[in-house]
Amino acid sequence: MRAIVQREFGASDVLVLEHVPRPEPGDGEVRVRVAAAGVHAVDIDLRRGEGPASMPEVELPMTPGREIAGTVDAVGAGVEAALLGTSVVAHVGFRSGGYAEYALVSAAALHAVPDGVTFSQAVASIGTGRTAQLVLDAAGLTAADTVIVPGASGGLGSQLVQLALSSGATAVALYGGEGKRAVIEQLAHVDGSHPGRMVALDATDESWPARMAAALDGEAPSLLLDGVGGATARAAIEALARGARVVIFGWSSGEVVRIDTDDIVARSLTVTVPLGRPIADLRALEARAIAATAEGRTVPPVDEHPLAEAAAAHAAIEQRRQRGKVVLVP
Ligand SMILES: NC(=O)c1ccc[n+]([C@@H]2O[C@H](COP(=O)([O-])OP(=O)(O)OC[C@H]3O[C@@H](n4cnc5c(N)ncnc54)[C@H](OP(=O)(O)O)[C@@H]3O)[C@@H](O)[C@H]2O)c1
Repeated sequence: MRAIVQREFGASDVLVLEHVPRPEPGDGEVRVRVAAAGVHAVDIDLRRGEGPASMPEVELPMTPGREIAGTVDAVGAGVEAALLGTSVVAHVGFRSGGYAEYALVSAAALHAVPDGVTFSQAVASIGTGRTAQLVLDAAGLTAADTVIVPGASGGLGSQLVQLALSSGATAVALYGGEGKRAVIEQLAHVDGSHPGRMVALDATDESWPARMAAALDGEAPSLLLDGVGGATARAAIEALARGARVVIFGWSSGEVVRIDTDDIVARSLTVTVPLGRPIADLRALEARAIAATAEGRTVPPVDEHPLAEAAAAHAAIEQRRQRGKVVLVP
């Protein structure tokens, strides 16, 4: 089969397409013919040899990729044959192996892909979607919120904006340059009993806080969901209302947002970091994320690349050119 193999740590060109033996499922496992493999920000850290301390050290050579969707093609001992031919999506966990035509995963990790959901959308829901659910649980989002989402064109930002809108909240979607405007406009097309209002602002124009204040008639936002950090998130902190909440889950800019106790005390902020500690029920978060997509509350924008171009897909993320969740298609 064709698979991306990484034999050394380094820049995106260490991701090379090779022909390797098709893996055989062990006890309790299935083999999935991969139709879509998610590319995650952590895959880039792992490729560089800079994975988070919370993850086991990577052993090379390896095939990256922890999010897969496709069709069950073989089952191992102890797994029901009825799964053969079904459409599934799964997070394969630390074992990786998703950037390939076939990948192994524990049968216990599988979710059915609902009717009307594409494999690429399903793969966007399984890992990034579960994080979005976790972030919103930590935020305690309600329809009364006005929420700032930096990096709204990214995998997680796009789903957070959609979930906020489908909850009836006002979402301030910050995006990186007019080239990303089209993907941001798609985010408003979500179902909800009282869909909220989206204010989309190009954050590369530093006047965005003034433009936000004008668009919100001076109402200060009550919530910041930040995976970008740096100057954009810092400006967002300064724009928040008294009593606002801040949820931090990443720093795509390379710099975690600066907050000190003066900020917290002066405006009674609540700051939460829902990652980096044990998460109680990942499977339930995954099921909720898939249900959100099946119900149209998220319609994850996907940025598809051929499997052979995994290196280019990584480079697109590193150069901030992604449009939604980056997915490899074998
Ligand atoms: N996806 C997950 O499941 C997950 C889990 C845990 C933590 N996180 C963290 O959450 C953050 C977002 O994850 P993601 O999956 O949405 O990543 P992503 O798809 O790569 O999106 C990140 C977004 O950040 C924005 N950005 C702003 N400044 C940037 C810069 N200097 N370089 C690159 N991007 C920049 C970009 O949007 P604009 O160009 O529109 O500003 C980009 O679309 C990351 O820090 C990630 O480590 C994600």
